[in-house]
Amino acid sequence: MPTLISVWLLARAGFHPSYASAAVIQGLLAALVTRWRGLAAWWLPIQCLFPLALLGAHALALPSWLFLTIFMVLLAVFWSTFRTQVPYWASGARVWRAVAELLPAGRPLKVIDIGSGLGGFTLDLARRRPDATLTGVELAPLPWFVSWLRAALTASRARFVRGDYESFDFADFDVVFCYLSPAAMPALYAKCLAEMKTGSKLMSYEFVIAERTPDLVIPITHNGASLYVWDF
Ligand SMILES: C[S@@+](CC[C@H](N)C(=O)[O-])C[C@H]1O[C@@H](n2cnc3c(N)ncnc32)[C@H](O)[C@@H]1O
Repeated sequence: MPTLISVWLLARAGFHPSYASAAVIQGLLAALVTRWRGLAAWWLPIQCLFPLALLGAHALALPSWLFLTIFMVLLAVFWSTFRTQVPYWASGARVWRAVAELLPAGRPLKVIDIGSGLGGFTLDLARRRPDATLTGVELAPLPWFVSWLRAALTASRARFVRGDYESFDFADFDVVFCYLSPAAMPALYAKCLAEMKTGSKLMSYEFVIAERTPDLVIPITHNGASLYVWDF
């Protein structure tokens, strides 16, 4: 549509560009507006290439059901990301190992992964700590379903709930693990302050709480991503 508008505007001005050159002009204009409005730098290549990508997809004459299917899958994966500002992204085995090593041994623990994605963290901890009670809560339906299925197929003790972590009382847990986003941290900290019991821990991979210095920082990757721990 923007490309069509560009073609129309150029035609009105006496130019008759091809759709491809109009798409390039459209992309450059979008990139200029992006820069002017101060969006993050990674938007620039997206804005430049998007009209060309649309033209390319149009030329492939793909069936319309394919676009609907891709949209439905993306919707089921990213669900409320527009509201939470937390997309799906997996943490990985190094983080899971670091968390497991920090957990006190010799006593049963209750651990929750708030935003459990495909369930990797919770399933891994269920294998390492047979004495722990493990809960994963996930808002998006498809990742939740995959985690539930993985637990069922491997007869894991991990429990996966589809829902919002806001509806859980953190006082029921010894450890709250999260891998969310900077946007989610202020509200999360307020909830932790209101609910977490003395002696419990909040562990966040990559994202800090601006208001409070972590009690422990464990570097995970070479590019500076760390696991942050706060004692309550
Ligand atoms: C970056 S992923 C982390 C996945 C997993 N915890 C891991 O470490 O691999 C964050 C997940 O949190 C979920 N999420 C975001 N806000 C949520 C909320 N309020 N309640 C439950 N899940 C949420 C997202 O759907 C996304 O799948």
